[in-house]
Amino acid sequence: MLYYDIHCHILPGLDDGAFSADETFRMAEIAVSHHTGVIVCTPHCLPNHLYNKEDILSVFRMVSAGIAERKLRLKLALGQEIFLDQQFRSTVSALEKGEHFTLNQTPYTLVEFDPYEDTRVVFPALDALRAAGFTPIVAHPERYEFVWEDYGVLYQLKEYGAFLQINKGSIKGAFGYDVQRIADFMLEERLADFVASDAHSPYRRTPPMQDVHEYVSLHYSHAYADYLFSANPLAVLRNQTVHSYNT
Ligand SMILES: [Fe+2]
Repeated sequence: MLYYDIHCHILPGLDDGAFSADETFRMAEIAVSHHTGVIVCTPHCLPNHLYNKEDILSVFRMVSAGIAERKLRLKLALGQEIFLDQQFRSTVSALEKGEHFTLNQTPYTLVEFDPYEDTRVVFPALDALRAAGFTPIVAHPERYEFVWEDYGVLYQLKEYGAFLQINKGSIKGAFGYDVQRIADFMLEERLADFVASDAHSPYRRTPPMQDVHEYVSLHYSHAYADYLFSANPLAVLRNQTVHSYNT
């Protein structure tokens, strides 16, 4: 089975992910050795973002060439992790103008919020994205205080048309017990739509998905695990419909 990772900070020097090209290629080797077949590179897009699309594209091309040179069985696609805050209208308008990358040039857009954001910003931001024709995928909802305070927000996020992506590290407790408990709730209730690595380095927050896939398969459901780690991310890459899991 191959894994498709839709959230990974593997491009060097653009954010707090890979620090150097050496780290990038080490991350790629680790991913391949754990059966990841495709990584969507998702550098942060913060309000004061330093890098434009051309900068990101040139790093992406350099890394893609290095992966081909090393004959690694790994495909790369491009996206960004788009930070939404009170200024969401200008971010959505920049997305409409094509100034930021959605996931593999599809309407699927990986978004993140400040952990302490107010839901009075979160929901209108999702509305604005949807109204502009984008399909939001909310990165790591289990890490947000507004979810810790009220698990019902998870259902509301879905009512607002968002898909939910859990970080693989959250599932086994890498971000603490509170985060793990929400990840468990999302898996038990079948609220999660994707698991991704959100890898930042070859040393901590690393790329492998395989062990967590096995864990989810064993503790929740084989079919659901395949859907989270493979079928749904593949649907995003192919710009096909992602369905919420209902069994
Ligand atoms: Fe991230």
